[in-house]
Amino acid sequence: EKQDLTTIVVFGASGDLAKKKTFPALFQLFKNNLLPKHTRVVGYARTVMEHQDFVKKASSFIKDSQEKIDEFFKICSYVNGSYSQSEDFVRLRLKIEQGEADMKTEKVFYTSEKDICGRIIKNKLRVYYMALPPSVFISVSEKIKENVYDANVINHLVIEKPFGLDRESCKYLIDNIGKNFTESEVFRTDHYLGKEMVKNIIVLRFANKFYESVWNKDHIDNIQITFKEPFGTEGRGGYFDQYGIIRDVVQNHLAQVLSILAMECPKSLDAEDIRDSKAEVLRHIPPVTLDETLLGQYVKSTDGTKPGYLDDETVSKDSNTPTYASMVMHVDTDRWRGVPFIIKAAKAVETAKVVVRIQFKDVSTNLFPNISRNELVIQISPKESIYLKTVVKEPGLSNKIIMSSLELEYRDVFTKNIIPDPYAALLLDVIGNDHSNFVREDELDEAWRIFTPLLNSIDQGKIKPLPYPYGSRGPEGGDKFNAKFGGYVPTNLDYYWSENN
Ligand code: BG6
Repeated sequence: EKQDLTTIVVFGASGDLAKKKTFPALFQLFKNNLLPKHTRVVGYARTVMEHQDFVKKASSFIKDSQEKIDEFFKICSYVNGSYSQSEDFVRLRLKIEQGEADMKTEKVFYTSEKDICGRIIKNKLRVYYMALPPSVFISVSEKIKENVYDANVINHLVIEKPFGLDRESCKYLIDNIGKNFTESEVFRTDHYLGKEMVKNIIVLRFANKFYESVWNKDHIDNIQITFKEPFGTEGRGGYFDQYGIIRDVVQNHLAQVLSILAMECPKSLDAEDIRDSKAEVLRHIPPVTLDETLLGQYVKSTDGTKPGYLDDETVSKDSNTPTYASMVMHVDTDRWRGVPFIIKAAKAVETAKVVVRIQFKDVSTNLFPNISRNELVIQISPKESIYLKTVVKEPGLSNKIIMSSLELEYRDVFTKNIIPDPYAALLLDVIGNDHSNFVREDELDEAWRIFTPLLNSIDQGKIKPLPYPYGSRGPEGGDKFNAKFGGYVPTNLDYYWSENN
């Protein structure tokens, strides 16, 4: 029997993640006819509320046009229940089953038979999307398995970081969820893997002879992966203080980007081949050390208008938690031996930017001594772009050589393409059973192995973060740190380019 009935259960439906990310992403898919023909969305949370209050909450962050919003909420319903009582989950199952029965008879809203990647949705599918705090991941997965799970349908469990606090707690989480859901049923979200420019790295590297042939230690001096945000922990101090910038963005988002930049060519584009390559390169990265790390914590802005990290009432007064971290990672493979990967992640700094800079070796030739190095820059956000800093002759009668740039600015070039929200892209992958952009358990374990010793030292107070004013470029010494590992400090020319990009 051909059944193409999809139910997406959003646990934590009244929480922040659901309203800021999950529902807007679902709506984006719905609006563009990208959800399977027959879909139901069931919100589940503890809050007791009427349908219209649920709609109000779930739509509060839907910014794009409201057209079709009423239609969208016709396929959504809400169930309130605890995260611990079996009878609540039984009610949820009944709701899902009722929806599945309704779908069989419903008039179809959409026309697409396939998803955007051409995958046909054939089976009855239930997606359990856990927009929940990690403290209930295990118990909820147990309750789903006992009371909701149906072995005759496809069941996908979606979870998002934090996946534990260190290697050990992550293993505990993986093992316990693993008692209820198999690895192929689990989708561990890292939303950076849903970002356009991160998905593009594999294409850039392996579909361009030009790049792949210089992608190694013979040509590359260093690789810098930088994450900067212009705001602090506003409103999230309680969460952030337990985690810090390394657990928040480095161990996951930036380590994932690094693994794709540094991996060997996968055997194929199959999810397992890609993840094999990523896990393999992570296995070759030794733990990050204290002496190759620079930490910072922001204090009040110099003009006094922005608060310091410790001014946040939800943060402990003597917190040692870093809001800035620069560190060097080494990839011990034949391709990369000796090439530093310089990672920087910072909150409450001067700008919003996530960027990868691949700096090529200095080339002093007989003809042109002292020329600046080439750089390939992949800007992940805010504006997707790729540029290659290239030396040219200054136009005109001058014989001077100058640095210029070959640029691919996505919004100018791909004017007709819509760059999807990463959560929407990843949800489609979950529905289409594509694990390529989700984190496998061995990748996660390796990533924790790399950072756990450093995190332990920070937690034990062995290293103190240096202060930097809110809105500045980070703690003093940041540029020196960069330069020490060969990463050159941006020149005026870089500022020229970044101002124009
Ligand atoms: C989240 C972190 O995972 O990623 C946040 O918890 C951070 O602290 C966010 O702000 C950054 O994501 P994006 O998509 O805005 O770069």
